[in-house]
Amino acid sequence: MNNFNFFSPTYFAFGKERENEAGKLVKRFGGTRVLIHYGGGSVIKSGLLDRVKASLSVENITFTELGGVVPNPRSGLVYKGIERCKNEKIDFILAVGGGSVIDSAKAIAMGALYEGDFWDFYQGRQIEKALPVATILTISAAGSEGSMGSVITHENGMLKRAANNEVLRPVFSIMNPELTASLPDYQIACGITDMMAHVMERYFTNTKNVEISDRLSEGILLAIINEAPKALTIRDYDALANIMWAGMVAHNDTSGIGRQDDWSSHQMEHELSALYDVAHGAGLAVMFPAWMKYVMHHDVMRFAQFAVRVWGCEMDFQNPEKTALQGIQRYEQFMTSIGMPIRFSQLGAKAEDIPTLVKTMGLGKNTLGSFVKLTEEDVRKIYELAV
Ligand code: NZQ
Ligand code: ZN
Repeated sequence: MNNFNFFSPTYFAFGKERENEAGKLVKRFGGTRVLIHYGGGSVIKSGLLDRVKASLSVENITFTELGGVVPNPRSGLVYKGIERCKNEKIDFILAVGGGSVIDSAKAIAMGALYEGDFWDFYQGRQIEKALPVATILTISAAGSEGSMGSVITHENGMLKRAANNEVLRPVFSIMNPELTASLPDYQIACGITDMMAHVMERYFTNTKNVEISDRLSEGILLAIINEAPKALTIRDYDALANIMWAGMVAHNDTSGIGRQDDWSSHQMEHELSALYDVAHGAGLAVMFPAWMKYVMHHDVMRFAQFAVRVWGCEMDFQNPEKTALQGIQRYEQFMTSIGMPIRFSQLGAKAEDIPTLVKTMGLGKNTLGSFVKLTEEDVRKIYELAV
C-alpha cells in the first residue's frame, strides 16, 4: 500500500426529511449570506426548494437564488454566479440538486475568492481557497457531495475539464434518499453506472497489497448490483438509501487511498459528453468495457479477480483470460439490464467523430491514465472498440 493523506471533513445528514434542517446546518457552518444554486427545475416542481428556503428563513439567514444549471454544467452560469457572489457579499453556497449543480457551485465558490478567471483552476492552477459549499443531494451518481472534484464545460471550445482540491469538499451534505424517487429510470441507471465506474477507476491499479481497499471496492460494487433492481423497479426506500450512500463512498476516496488510480475511461467519457451532451453515466457505460478489453492483458489476474469476486464467475486456472473476459461480459450484461447503452450507436455517437474526440482531448505526446499509460493512438483504438 502507498503512503497517503486522507481529509474528508464533510458532515453528512442522511435520511428522511433531513432537508428541513438546512437552515440549522448553514448556521452551524457559519453561513450568513447564502447563494442557493439549483438546476433546471426539478427542485421547484418537487417543492424541495420551497422547503429549503423556509428552513433558512426560520434561522433568519439571508439568501439569494441562482437556478438554471444544466447537466454537464457550463462556464456561462459560473461566471454569472461569481459576479453575484462578489456583488452581494455571499459567504456560503448551498447547492440543491445533483452533481452538475454541486460542481457549478464549487466552481463559483473558487471564483468568488479569486481575481483571475475561474477557468485557470480547470487548467491546472493550484486551488488555494473557496467559499464553503454545502449540498442537498437529489440524485445518487457523481459523488460530488463528498468529493473534492468539480467538472465544468467551458463554452469556448466545449472543453470539459476537472479541478480537484481538498477545499472543494462540501462542509455538509444532506442526503434524503426519498428525494431520488422522482428520478426517471434512465437517470437512476446513469447514476448507478457512474458510481460503479468511480470504484472501478480505483480498482484497476498497479499498486500491490491493497487488500482493504480491494475488499471495500468489491463490497460497494456487490451492494450496488444487488440494490439496483429494487431501486429501479419499485423505488424501494432502503434500496434507494443504499444506492445513495454507495454513490458517496464510491467517490470520496475511501476505496482509493493508498493505491494508484486510473481515470482514463472518465476522461474519454468527458470528451463524449462535451461533444454530444450525453449523460455522463451513459457515456461511461460505453467507454468502460472498451477500456477493459483493451487493457486487460496488462494484468489478467486482476481482471479475473474482478470477474470472480464481483460477478460470481468461476475461475478457470488453465485459462484466466477466459475468466477475465467473462467478467467484462457480465458487466456489459448488467449495464444492458439496467437500460444503459454499451456501444457508440446506442449513445448517438459516431465513428467518424473519433478523430475529433482524440484531438479535443489534447493529449499530444503525453499519456492518459496509469494502469496502462495510453498514447493518443491507444485512445483512438479504445474509441474504435466502443463503436
Ligand atoms: O436540472 P434538474 O431539473 O434538477 O434535473 C436534473 C438533471 O436533468 C435531474 N434531476 C436531479 N435530481 C432529480 C432530477 N429529476 C427528478 N428528480 C430528482 N430528484 O437529473 C438530471 C441530471 O442531473 P445531474 O446533476 O447532471 O446528474 P449527475 O449527478 O449525474 O451529475 C453529472 C455531472 O457530474 C460530473 C459529470 O461529469 C457531470 O457533469 N461529475 C462530477 C464528479 C465530481 N464532482 O466529483 C465526478 C464524476 O465522475 C462526474 O464527472
Ligand atoms: Zn463519474
